[in-house]
Amino acid sequence: MQQSALHVGIIMDGNGRWAARGGQDRSLGHHEGARAVRRVVEAAPELGIGVLTLYAFSADNWRRPPAEVAVLMRLFREYLRVEAERCIENGVRLEIIGRRDRIDRRLRRRIDASERATAAGARLHLRIALDYSSRDAILRAAQCLRPDTVPTRDSFGRLLAIVDHGTPVPELDLLIRTGGERRLSDFLLWEAAYAELLFVERMWPDFGAEDLAQALGEFATRERRYGGLRPATADAC
Ligand code: FPP
Repeated sequence: MQQSALHVGIIMDGNGRWAARGGQDRSLGHHEGARAVRRVVEAAPELGIGVLTLYAFSADNWRRPPAEVAVLMRLFREYLRVEAERCIENGVRLEIIGRRDRIDRRLRRRIDASERATAAGARLHLRIALDYSSRDAILRAAQCLRPDTVPTRDSFGRLLAIVDHGTPVPELDLLIRTGGERRLSDFLLWEAAYAELLFVERMWPDFGAEDLAQALGEFATRERRYGGLRPATADAC
């Protein structure tokens, strides 16, 4: 049976530690992190990934020193400026999810332009989570519910994507976190209800196509039962 395209999410952690290990400034780690993003985006469609959601900046990351935030925002702007063209060529549809109202006007303009330019991409749906908080999105979606309607899991999931300026996507299949930490950090909490979790030691700037392939290999060995029984056990009843 043909496996339908997967939705993979990545918490790209470890940029700062990667830089510190080499005695470098954290900003170098973020720059190398952006190169890793390019590698992974390029490899994803061939590995059977249809939707890739990357956690680039959380709503709590505003607490970082202003200089680091500025580096990251510049990097995001630059990424969108340079990559939009490549996305069009490679059939990648780009979407930025998260709040927009706290994002600098120049970056917002860049986001709008990249989303418009890449809207026809059908090989990969690339979502970059920026000023993103899963709990806040759930709260905003709940506030949108009309008192006379009863949401379903599906309808609420769709609403959740829409309140974050995205379009509905399938539930998450695999969540990868690099950098050795084992937590979800407010990322895709609703969407990850039945996701397989994979925590890898490698720092994000060192992550590449082979690591992604290896992660998918590990995913393929997992048995997903969604609360049911293994097929052989169910038949025996
Ligand atoms: C977490 O590592 C990483 C971030 C908060 C930023 C993620 C940004 C990138 C990967 C670069 C560019 C992204 C795009 C989409 C162009 P950390 O800094 O918290 O690392 P640490 O835990 O080692 O300190």
